[in-house]
Amino acid sequence: MDSDRCLVLRVESVTVTYNGRVALRDATFSAYAGERVAVVGPNGAGKTTLFKAIVGLLPLESGTVEVFRCNPQRERVSIGYVPQREEVDLSFPVTVADVVMMGRIGHIGYLRRPSRRDREAVRQALEQVGLTDLVNRPLGELSGGQIQRTFIARALAQEAPLLLMDEPFAGVDATSEEAILRLLDLLRENGVTVLLATHDLRMAAERFDRVLLLNGEVVACGPPGEVLCPAALQRVYGGQLTLWEHERGLLLLGDGHCSGGA
Ligand SMILES: Nc1ncnc2c1ncn2[C@@H]1O[C@H](COP(=O)(O)OP(=O)(O)OP(=O)(O)O)[C@@H](O)[C@H]1O
Ligand SMILES: [Mg+2]
Repeated sequence: MDSDRCLVLRVESVTVTYNGRVALRDATFSAYAGERVAVVGPNGAGKTTLFKAIVGLLPLESGTVEVFRCNPQRERVSIGYVPQREEVDLSFPVTVADVVMMGRIGHIGYLRRPSRRDREAVRQALEQVGLTDLVNRPLGELSGGQIQRTFIARALAQEAPLLLMDEPFAGVDATSEEAILRLLDLLRENGVTVLLATHDLRMAAERFDRVLLLNGEVVACGPPGEVLCPAALQRVYGGQLTLWEHERGLLLLGDGHCSGGA
């Protein structure tokens, strides 16, 4: 199956615990070149935990993660990571330019100076997210949306073939949201694989190739029309769902039957 597609990420039976308590149980799924996967699930479902496990920031209790058949915990593989807003330490005295240049470390090497090519990559990334004017601004003096865009620029400058974005739309206005979505189209053209955590089920349904539905484990993974069906959503979100339908005009797809995943 899928032998004609280029496998980028393989997550196999991954369990992650915090102090002995399981946050993500036995997760298995794969992602392919140029694919855009929405990672959805309620608060505490394990989205951030999954991303940190893939990047190698959290140890695995069991299972394996492979990126281009390498183990990110042991080998150097380039994975772009846009952390969830709450995870960013704003007291750290760095400017926008510093943060974006950090994306180039894998290209520069730790004790070398940035080359013209590195500086150009940073300039281009800042232009792509519309932050050129704020290049020397300390991170702690930015708005929430500008911080998100700074980390997206860092990921772009990194030129990584796999990009994990943890709720990049949280706290950004409609214009920035559309700009980020356009960037995602650009990344797809370049064959970059994107996993993006979001609470926006409508966006997941309309703008993504596949949806990974989490709730402490993988509930379903497949095309949006299969995964975001009422039965699976009811199982994961329970009573919240009615509220969401009213508040967000949530599109419920399909006829109530789940044909894939779970
Ligand atoms: N540093 C930590 N120490 C202990 N438990 C943690 C830690 N980080 C997360 N958890 C727990 O692990 C589970 C998964 O959390 P995670 O942050 O991955 O969820 P999430 O899906 O990203 O949620 P959200 O939508 O709120 O961002 C939760 O029960 C959470 O309380
Ligand atoms: Mg999270």
